[in-house]
Amino acid sequence: MSLADHQSHFLDLADLPDGKLRHLLNSAHKRKAVRAGKPKGTLDDDAPLAGYLLAMIFEKPSTRTRLSFDMGMRQLGGQTVILNQSDMQLGRGESIADTAEVISRFADLAMLRTGPHETLSELAAHAHVPVINGLTAYSHPCQIVADLMTFEEHKGALAGQKLAWLGDGNNVALSFVHAAAQLDFELALATPADFSIAHAEIKAAQDKGAKITLCETAAQAADKAAALVTDCWVSMSDDPAEAQARATAFGPYQVTQDLMDMGDAPIFMHCLPAYRGSEVTAEVIDGAASVIFDEAENRAHAQKAIMLHCMGAAPEASL
Ligand code: CP
Ligand code: NVA
Repeated sequence: MSLADHQSHFLDLADLPDGKLRHLLNSAHKRKAVRAGKPKGTLDDDAPLAGYLLAMIFEKPSTRTRLSFDMGMRQLGGQTVILNQSDMQLGRGESIADTAEVISRFADLAMLRTGPHETLSELAAHAHVPVINGLTAYSHPCQIVADLMTFEEHKGALAGQKLAWLGDGNNVALSFVHAAAQLDFELALATPADFSIAHAEIKAAQDKGAKITLCETAAQAADKAAALVTDCWVSMSDDPAEAQARATAFGPYQVTQDLMDMGDAPIFMHCLPAYRGSEVTAEVIDGAASVIFDEAENRAHAQKAIMLHCMGAAPEASL
């Protein structure tokens, strides 16, 4: 794998050098600020990725990731092509390595949504252009840039604040763990024992300074939290046949108004798609403290910061 000078993959928050996540958040806030009042089909004033093409490969479904990368790249002046697995030779057994070489001949930047993280690693290993993790079963780093940006909009500086994660110790939860090692917030995790984040991941983050609390109950996590965060109980890479067992295990972690009342005027966060009546009650997700659609919108602003980082561009210098 050889990337041009200053170009980088964006595979996991755990890979970022110190200070980079903060820099991405600052860039995302700034890029959002300069869009105020502009129609969505117009370019950003600096159009810093004019002439560049983003290829997006989807081996799993997506609404927000697809829309936000597409709109974000176009507003940066670039162009996009969307490739669904079912339409690609990848779906008929062509190797990831060959696909990576071919994509590198056509596109300047690639994004992959897939199940196995190894597929992403292999694409990045063979691509000659930057590769972005658009979600794997292991992690969802783009989501967490948007989520932390959203938190800061509603609750101010992250330092010293408590975010509570309730439910499945899944890909989104793990990217929060990775972020906690980069930024100065407390992450309280309440997950059933059978669905917790791997101990080695927690320890690796703690060794880098993450303030992570493992909670016995949802109430303990919610106590004085500034945000309650959850996700679906059955992720795209999970076996749907496990749905009933998961619902039983996760029942005590459903985000209810009673739990919200234990927090410190908390916001409610969810990456979406959501299932009302499962991981969260309709009262909470449709209530005044819910910021779910800000999170969805912020995917685009965050994605811009990420793409500019990958391309080695100065994200805000030209605005
Ligand atoms: N949150 C998120 O990644 O949404 P999509 O699955 O719709 O892309
Ligand atoms: N944990 C979810 C996130 C969806 C954006 C999944 O992987 O399906």
